Amino acid sequence: MEIIIKKDALSGSYSAARVVARLIHEKPDAVLGLATGSTPLMLYKELIRLHNEEALDFSRVTTFNLDEYVGLPADHEQSYHRFMWDNLFSQINIKLENVHIPDGMASDIPAFCASYEQAIIDAGGIDLQVLGIGSDGHVGFNEPTSSFASRTRIKTLTRQTVADNARFFDGDESKVPHHCITMGIGTIMDARMNILLAFGQNKAGAVAATVEGPTASIMPASILQYHPAAKMFIDEAAASDLKLGDYYRWVYDNKPDWQKDA
Ligand code: F6R
Repeated sequence: MEIIIKKDALSGSYSAARVVARLIHEKPDAVLGLATGSTPLMLYKELIRLHNEEALDFSRVTTFNLDEYVGLPADHEQSYHRFMWDNLFSQINIKLENVHIPDGMASDIPAFCASYEQAIIDAGGIDLQVLGIGSDGHVGFNEPTSSFASRTRIKTLTRQTVADNARFFDGDESKVPHHCITMGIGTIMDARMNILLAFGQNKAGAVAATVEGPTASIMPASILQYHPAAKMFIDEAAASDLKLGDYYRWVYDNKPDWQKDA
């Protein structure tokens, strides 16, 4: 795993955006895996800017989102459908038919999940997956003890995730759905590249356990230690519990120029 420590969330997001943009330049029909939540907002703003000012072209890009709440219709203001259209898709030239987000209203959830996995395969697999991380170490909504072999399926959110996400639901935990559809850890590990973004002190513990702790399903993101191309873009606050922080900075500062942000 490559650990890229930036001074703040903005510069971390810019660096991550350069990686996404480079992929789209090299492979205009790239398949992106996308996340929601607070963390990728600045990344998406920067991608919109690159689209508007530097003609970054999404017309052939396909996307698959990690997750969606069960029971929220696409037009619900806290659905991840709405999030993605409000914060990214409506402001770039992506084609509606190339966007995939789990259907939280699917009547047959197992069948839907199988079809989502198949759609990823049919698209040629995910080239680059964007990840955030929960304070409990979840990626997607793969909560602690999720199987490392899991595929897209229904999951029950932990009480901690419900509490963390209540901020999007007027601070009212009773409004937060308890179930979601999420890509599995196996699905995430199949992506050819994973970039995980984490900003702020409340992610420091999960970041340190992910990077330097044992690989264990109690800390789902720790599986990324086994991924051949995983990068973590973090700010100083999220890096504050790392034992080898100075080493990661040293590695990054001494990279050949051609390798920077690659
Ligand atoms: C969202 C997702 C989650 C979030 C995580 C962090 O699609 O998959 O894993 O990335 O809960 O959320 P924020 O960024 O709001 O702290």
